[in-house]
Amino acid sequence: MDIRIDEVPLAERRPKPTDESALGFGKIFSDHMFTMRWKPDKGWHDAVISKYGPIPMAPASLVLHYGQTIFEGLKAYRAKDDAINLFRPYKNFERMNASAKRLDMPPVDVEVTMQAVRTLIGLDHEWVPRSKGTSLYIRPFMFGAEPYVGLKSSSDVMMIIIIGPVGAYYPEGFNPVSLQVCEKYSRAGPGGLGAVKTAANYAASLLAEKEAKQAGYTQVLWLDAAQRKFLEEVGSMNILLKIDGKLITPALGGTILSGVTRDSVLQLAKSWGIGVEERAIAIDEVLAAHKSGKLEEMFGAGTAAVISPVATMNYKGQDYKVGSGKTGPLAQRLFDELTGIQYGLRPDPFNWIYQVRAPQKKTKTPMPSSAAV
Ligand code: COI
Repeated sequence: MDIRIDEVPLAERRPKPTDESALGFGKIFSDHMFTMRWKPDKGWHDAVISKYGPIPMAPASLVLHYGQTIFEGLKAYRAKDDAINLFRPYKNFERMNASAKRLDMPPVDVEVTMQAVRTLIGLDHEWVPRSKGTSLYIRPFMFGAEPYVGLKSSSDVMMIIIIGPVGAYYPEGFNPVSLQVCEKYSRAGPGGLGAVKTAANYAASLLAEKEAKQAGYTQVLWLDAAQRKFLEEVGSMNILLKIDGKLITPALGGTILSGVTRDSVLQLAKSWGIGVEERAIAIDEVLAAHKSGKLEEMFGAGTAAVISPVATMNYKGQDYKVGSGKTGPLAQRLFDELTGIQYGLRPDPFNWIYQVRAPQKKTKTPMPSSAAV
C-alpha cells in the first residue's frame, strides 16, 4: 500500500522542547502523524502521513460507547552519530494483531505499519531527544469509528500512529517505586481481556491506582481475579522477583500482558546463567520469602517503565521492604544491559535492534584558509 505524505511546511512546524530534562511522559507530540482506515469492502486504505492534530469523529463512534480499541507502545532511541534505533518493533505489531483478533478488529499488514513508522521518524527525526534517559515514544492505536449506538463490531476502523519525545514514565525515574497489592478490585479475569493491549484493562485500573496513590504508593500490584491469591502484573508493567537466586515471574496465562521488555529480560537472564521460572507466584510465597530473607529483589519491566525497581510492597495494610530497599544488582544489570543495547552502546547479540536511521556522516570542519597550505 502506498502511503501519501502531506508534509507539514517548515513554517508551520512547532518548536521542539528545549529542556529535555522536563519532558515527562506522553505530553508532547511531533509534527506528523500516520492515519489509515479500514472498511469491509475496501480493506485498509487511505494511508496518509499528515500534520499532527485533531481528528474528525462522530459522537456516536462505537469506540466511545463500547471501547473497541487497542494500542501499542514502542520507543526509538538516539544512538551514536545520530542513528535512530527501534527495539524489537515487529513484536509490537505482531502483538497488535493478536489484540485486534480478540477485539474483532482487522489485522494490519506489519510491513505497512513498519513503513509508516520509518517514514514518520524520517520526517520527524529531530524530535528524537538526545539527553540520557530520553527517547521517542511511538503509540500506534486502532479504534471502531463507525457512528452507531447499538452494540456490534465496527465496520469502520481507524488506525493512527503518533510519536513524541519522552523522559522517565514514573516521577521516580530509575529510583525504586512502591506498590500496593490490590485486594478490592480486579484487573482482568480468565477468558477476559487481560492479555490484550486494550483500553478496558487500563480503565479498570484507574480507581485502584488513585486509591493506591492517595495511600502513598506509586502503583497497584494486581492479584488474580478468581482467588486474589497469585501475582499478575502492575498494569503499566510486568512484575519480576528474585527469590533465593532465581528470577521468577507470573506465567502468561491469558490474564496478563505478554510484555516485550519482560521477554527480553527473561532472555538476558537466561543467557547470564540465572535460573528463570515462569509460573504462578502466590502472594503467600512472597511474604514467606520476605520473612526468610530470600526476597532479594522485585522490579517491573515495560516499554514505558523500562526496569523499575520496587523498594516497598504493601499488603493488607503492612509495608514490606524488598531486599535492601534500594535498586538491586540484578535490576541494575538488566537496566544497564537493555538500555545499553537500545542506545547502541553495547553489543546486540539477540539482533533486537532495528535501525530506522543510519549513522550520519560527520561533516568535516573546513580548515581555516591560513592553515590550508
Ligand atoms: C508501555 O509501556 O508502552 C505502555 O503502553 C504502558 C502504558 C501505561 C504507558
